[in-house]
Amino acid sequence: MTTLSEVYREHAIHLRHIVPLDFHSVRTVPDSHVWPKSDDFSSDDQLSIPIIDLKDPLAVKLAGHACETWGAFQVINHGIPSNLVEEVESEARRLFSLPAQQKMKALREPAGATGYGLARISPFFPKYMWHEGFTVMGSPVDHARALWPNDNARFCDVIERYQKKMKVLAEQLTHLILKSLDVSLEDLSWDVGSPSTALQLNSYPSCPDPNRTMGLAPHTDTSFLTLLHQSSISGLQIFKEGVGWLSVRPIAGALVVNVGDLLHILSNARFPSVLHRAVVNRDGCHRLSVAYFYGIPTDCNVSPLAKLLNSGHTPRYRSVTVKEYVILKAKNFEEALSLIRI
Ligand code: OGA
Ligand code: NI
Repeated sequence: MTTLSEVYREHAIHLRHIVPLDFHSVRTVPDSHVWPKSDDFSSDDQLSIPIIDLKDPLAVKLAGHACETWGAFQVINHGIPSNLVEEVESEARRLFSLPAQQKMKALREPAGATGYGLARISPFFPKYMWHEGFTVMGSPVDHARALWPNDNARFCDVIERYQKKMKVLAEQLTHLILKSLDVSLEDLSWDVGSPSTALQLNSYPSCPDPNRTMGLAPHTDTSFLTLLHQSSISGLQIFKEGVGWLSVRPIAGALVVNVGDLLHILSNARFPSVLHRAVVNRDGCHRLSVAYFYGIPTDCNVSPLAKLLNSGHTPRYRSVTVKEYVILKAKNFEEALSLIRI
């Protein structure tokens, strides 16, 4: 079976779109990182994505409704131990606090998928983002050894425990969301238990001019579902049609769940892959987030679920293999969905 990192190997990115700025050393924002001022924020502070308690007997219905109207929700009572989340955050902080030349030892290769570097979407924008990331697929041990030759066991252990817990939760959420469509795991053509996944540690360093920078530019996730821990510092925003950009308020202990492109295709666009971005913290705080991308094995086909089409709906997307879609997205970014539209 082809792994996700093997798929990414087919699409190399130029080094200048991989190496982050040495954020520790800059006092002003270089022109390469200055974005036009945006004034497209919604002024409606009351509007926000739903909060769903996984123990709520109505969770199936609420999750279906949230996916349909928002493409995202926050989940509480999800069973991920809070100390594990704190440990991941603290390991991420330890990583991003390393001197720039040390982090460069784990730099992502031009044709690689894992390691330290800028966001993969960087080549699609004229300016650089105020962001550095670290991507893990499977075991992080090789890059962790490069970062900390004698002291990497804790990092690897925490990351691996977190991935295991996230996988279980993602499966549970998949079950819940599909149930809202009256679809069961058996109706799927792949094994939900052996997904392709990635863990992304994001760092948005403290910025001398946060109003003129961008943390992570608007995008949709290529995943089926994404589970995000965004620490206590705000920054995540989602785009709501007719309203504009809305902040997703950090709630202690909650995880943000969003619909990715693969669920969008599978649900025949009933559950929209939500456009989102991360802004740099306005108060100059260093912000961290941890995203778990839960996907479908790369050799599998995705297409709108037959069960949904029985009810008279025509398919809006042609069938693609996950591998084909991941490459389409890597090369065409936001055009990818429209390229498979029927
Ligand atoms: C991502 C993402 C948002 C955030 O990693 O894909 O959207 O708040 N992150 O860091
Ligand atoms: Ni995202």
